[in-house]
Amino acid sequence: MKSDASMKRIAVFASGNGSNAENIIRYFNTGAGAPSHGAEVVLVVCNRPGAAVIDKARALGVPVSIVTREMFNDEASMMALLESRAIDAIVLAGFLLMVPPFMTARFSGRMINIHPSLLPKFGGKGMYGRHVHEAVVAAGETETGITVHLVSDHCDGGDIIFQASTPVAPTDTAADVETKVHALERAHFPAVIARWLHPSE
Ligand code: GRF
Repeated sequence: MKSDASMKRIAVFASGNGSNAENIIRYFNTGAGAPSHGAEVVLVVCNRPGAAVIDKARALGVPVSIVTREMFNDEASMMALLESRAIDAIVLAGFLLMVPPFMTARFSGRMINIHPSLLPKFGGKGMYGRHVHEAVVAAGETETGITVHLVSDHCDGGDIIFQASTPVAPTDTAADVETKVHALERAHFPAVIARWLHPSE
């Protein structure tokens, strides 16, 4: 296990189902007082009161803050929340609000997002969730994948850290593509976060 000094404290931001958030928490938080892989998820931030991610995170012992759009865009409120938990890094995992400029500035180089396509393809406004996979199928793509990237003020436009691809068959539906992409996310995202946080190891 890493010494406490190198242990990073992660906040995961999520809006919906939370399969990625759950997978990340399971990877880093192995149990009471015993984080592994050099980091611990110490906070989940969610902007949708009924989202499934809330119960998933709480069941794994991670506190959840439910924020309104107004609070999310308020620098004093959000920085107070993040500083109260001594957050080192933010991971966006299916988070649907645009991140305000004060947060990209304060967490410059310390905030990443996962996007369910091979950016720059199928990124930008309106490209989230099932919409992405429908667009991939409609375009007749033969492959798709995932992109993990730094968060900048440009929607889906920050530096790319990692990509992985999967074939798309001519008979695949958007739901089929989504299943393949979720499998990639499950297989790669937590370890990509760990390597990003501790690049020399
Ligand atoms: C994932 O496909 C992720 O890539 C995208 O939104 C989806 C969230 O799924 N940004 P979940 O909430 O983690 O299940």
